[in-house]
Amino acid sequence: MATDTLSVTDNRTGAEYEIPIADGAIHATELRKIKAADGDFGLMSYDPAFLNTASCRSAVTFIDGDAGILRYRGYPIDQLAERSTYLETAFLILFGELPTKAELVEWADEITHHTFVHQNMKQLMEAFRYDAHPMGMFISSLAALSTFYPEAAEVDDPEVRLLEAKRLIAKVPTLAAWAYRHSRGLPYVYPDNDLSFTGNFLSMMFRMAEPRYAADPTLERALEVLFILHADHEQNCSASAMRSIGSSRVDPYSAMAGAAAALYGPLHGGANEAVLRMLAEIGDVKRVPEYVERVKAGDFRLMGFGHRVYKNYDPRAKIIKETADAVFEVTGRNPLLDVALELEKIALEDEYFVSRKLYPNVDFYSGLIYEALGLPTAMFPVMFAIPRTSGWLAQWLEGVVDPEQKIARPRQVYVGADERNYTAVDDRRAVAVA
Ligand code: ACO
Repeated sequence: MATDTLSVTDNRTGAEYEIPIADGAIHATELRKIKAADGDFGLMSYDPAFLNTASCRSAVTFIDGDAGILRYRGYPIDQLAERSTYLETAFLILFGELPTKAELVEWADEITHHTFVHQNMKQLMEAFRYDAHPMGMFISSLAALSTFYPEAAEVDDPEVRLLEAKRLIAKVPTLAAWAYRHSRGLPYVYPDNDLSFTGNFLSMMFRMAEPRYAADPTLERALEVLFILHADHEQNCSASAMRSIGSSRVDPYSAMAGAAAALYGPLHGGANEAVLRMLAEIGDVKRVPEYVERVKAGDFRLMGFGHRVYKNYDPRAKIIKETADAVFEVTGRNPLLDVALELEKIALEDEYFVSRKLYPNVDFYSGLIYEALGLPTAMFPVMFAIPRTSGWLAQWLEGVVDPEQKIARPRQVYVGADERNYTAVDDRRAVAVA
């Protein structure tokens, strides 16, 4: 009769073990029972880069990478992108349900009233070099925020956790916009509490001498859609960083500075910046085939293509492509779009990409939209971090109350030297330090 167990025979000893299977997984600590000799530590699983290891139970986001499915709390991403707002989606991600009308009004009001930052943050921003990368400024200012809210260290207090979550969601657009204004040598714009979340962000980014900045409604909605699409993506590199750092019980500002640093890398949130640089380097549709050949030869990767989880078209990429069309109606067509479309066409037909299941990911088109909105490429990872704040916080909130979690502490397979004796400096041989 079928049972939910895995039978294992250790051929070193002939011993047999029954390992329980729950939710399609075995508990890795069960392997510890498998020992070759008394005093043996027990078997470990070796999984560099966590290719097949679940680090938590989570009810936030569901992805089926083979089928190209993404859902927040059960709601398909396309329905949210079409009908929701970023703040409503953030509420859903954090608390598990869509808000009622009254809850949404209260939530939006609370976020709106936490958008201001301490005046000292302005001085902190001003201390950066004129050409500082806005993502470096953003990461640093997140860490700095923890010093303004020392009570945030009380991570076991649910009221504190909730308040800090609201503060973070509300303040990240302000930090992001100020980082941008700094890079342009423009005066910082304070939040306007009468505007929507995205309308206020666009105002803090682009307002000049006008008394009130009125964003184009199409662009405001496009940004809303981009924010919804980027809100969470389960246990990716930065969410894992957020959970891992948070598992030390540090305050969420410090944990989020670490998560944002993870997002900065070119293989993660920095990819949209890399895509734009790549499209600009190709420059012309005629040069696409030659570029693809170089990718296939292993000279470099096609940025914005491939995903650890999606082995099908990234569902967010589809929506972003439609959003791009709406944005270009207002801003005019970005000439690099033709290069992107040609790259996608050739890659989707090519055996190299087909056999490796490499499809455009969320970042392939998002950079083109950001550029159309007038943003420099260095701002792209910052644009990703604004909405991902709600996802990081949802993952963190889930992790800090999970009784199965402890401080994150992976094991290692030690492959270094055995014990040896200290040698006098004159007796040592030079080492080639790489
Ligand atoms: N261009 C060319 N070849 C690629 C690409 C790419 N973009 N991505 C993967 N491959 C190839 C690899 O060379 C490898 O080929 P091989 O089997 O012949 O050696 C195969 O596909 C599998 O690649 P892995 O590196 O094992 O895949 P992994 O799951 O580790 O990587 C990643 C996923 C990092 C996203 C990768 O596809 C990549 O580097 N893409 C470009 C960067 C990018 O767009 N990142 C954004 C991801 S989305 C996000 O973070 C929001």
